[in-house]
Amino acid sequence: MSNIAPLNLHLRTFCPTISVGVLTADWMKLDVDLLQIEQAGVKLLHFDVMDGRFCPMLTLGPPLIKSIKTSLLKDVHLMIEDPLSQLETFVSAGADMITVNVESCRHPHRVLQALGKMTNANVPERGLLRGIALNPGTPLNVVEPLLDETDMVFLLAVNPGWSGQSFVPDAARRIAALLEMSRQRKKDILIGLDGGVTRKNIDEIARMGADVIVTGSAVFDGKAAGENAAFMLKTIAEARKSRL
Ligand code: DX5
Ligand code: ZN
Repeated sequence: MSNIAPLNLHLRTFCPTISVGVLTADWMKLDVDLLQIEQAGVKLLHFDVMDGRFCPMLTLGPPLIKSIKTSLLKDVHLMIEDPLSQLETFVSAGADMITVNVESCRHPHRVLQALGKMTNANVPERGLLRGIALNPGTPLNVVEPLLDETDMVFLLAVNPGWSGQSFVPDAARRIAALLEMSRQRKKDILIGLDGGVTRKNIDEIARMGADVIVTGSAVFDGKAAGENAAFMLKTIAEARKSRL
């Protein structure tokens, strides 16, 4: 019997937390910056995979995800057409968490079921964490029939495609509604929030009830990634204390 906790339980031991987006990272000094954010207490690294079809930008793929050597968990956000046909390549590239946008799947339930049968390439006993993401314009009830097959629901607070966009305020209402939906369904799902999170709005956002808050350009701003990450984590911890 392995004493390694499944990923969703493992995440619960340090949530609420941030997942740092690498899209705006300086690749020429990523090793130094990764060390800084690890030392600041970051546990999750967010890879935005865009294929230039589901959204206009073309970003990164499995080879780059595999090449990044880090103790951080690899949180892979797939914004690609037909993700079902690509899941294996991202799992074998070392993704620990895979989130697909519901709008990109003809069969989202099948995609999540398929993910549920795959093995974590890094720590097989830990399993994979499955996530489903919704664009700001997608109604919440789309995820209701998927709650049995997912560990996390990610609400995008920006329209997918770029880092550095402004936060869509309606995300606050949607988090509250999602919390209510999971309570009614007695589903212990993790809630993620993705996009538009900065040093200015992190305090307000940390009080909305999300477990995983993605922040990219506000951490990798070309200056002190470690300091930015530490500030975000400290603000979340203080907001959490004030809610207890
Ligand atoms: C948007 C992506 C987000 C984005 C976050 O399509 O899913 O993860 O890169 O970047 P910031 O934090 O800069 O909005
Ligand atoms: Zn993302």
